[in-house]
Amino acid sequence: MDRLDPAARYKLLVNTITPRPIAWVVTRDAGGRVNAAPYSFFNAMGGTPPLVAIGMAPDVQRGETGDKDSLRAIRETGAFTVALVDEAHAQAMNLTAVNAPAGVDELALAGLDAAPATSIAAPLIASAPVQFECRLWRLVETGPHSAIVIGEVQVTHIEDRFLSEEGGKLRIDNPAMQLIGRSYAAGEYVRNAAPLHMDRVSWPLEDKD
Ligand SMILES: Cc1cc2nc3c(=O)[nH]c(=O)nc-3n(C[C@H](O)[C@H](O)[C@H](O)COP(=O)(O)O)c2cc1C
Repeated sequence: MDRLDPAARYKLLVNTITPRPIAWVVTRDAGGRVNAAPYSFFNAMGGTPPLVAIGMAPDVQRGETGDKDSLRAIRETGAFTVALVDEAHAQAMNLTAVNAPAGVDELALAGLDAAPATSIAAPLIASAPVQFECRLWRLVETGPHSAIVIGEVQVTHIEDRFLSEEGGKLRIDNPAMQLIGRSYAAGEYVRNAAPLHMDRVSWPLEDKD
């Protein structure tokens, strides 16, 4: 990999490691300015503690000489919210990836209302179906102005219509959320429309006869 140019290296990863969920990261920086942007180097990393990880690259718009606004605000405040992206919010999410100058509130730009979070100053997206309030757990510096942000989820917000209980167990209707993810090329996304069902196997393997 270190013999390749950065663009080829990046392509080998992002066009093969798919689909990737999208973290729609919302921050409020030390000056009170709200910022929103999508990040697909993202996943859940554990349940106890409940961790999510997000990979943030240098800001290309600033010639890679500065942090992206999300990373800067997370360094300043140690807090952020993550909304998952459903089909209904796809265009708005894409709009918030715009290379707007620092200080532009991308939520307002995309016509989205902010709602107060319960445990941190960073706001939620009022209409997003599933969201997490996160406090910075660890920041792993991976290079100049790039880092892996690991957040501990303090609070989960999920619309009631996706939740139910069956035999005392929590049920979550994920297909109903219509979440989207990043796919293999620029501008390509996947729908969670045709899931493949496969039960987990346990040892000893069952006799098939
Ligand atoms: C679907 C999608 C996924 C993205 N994933 C990432 C990512 O994982 N890491 C990253 O650094 N930038 C990613 N970007 C680019 C950022 O969203 C973009 O640079 C944005 O302007 C950063 O905003 P900020 O400076 O307000 O944080 C992604 C863009 C899109 C549209």
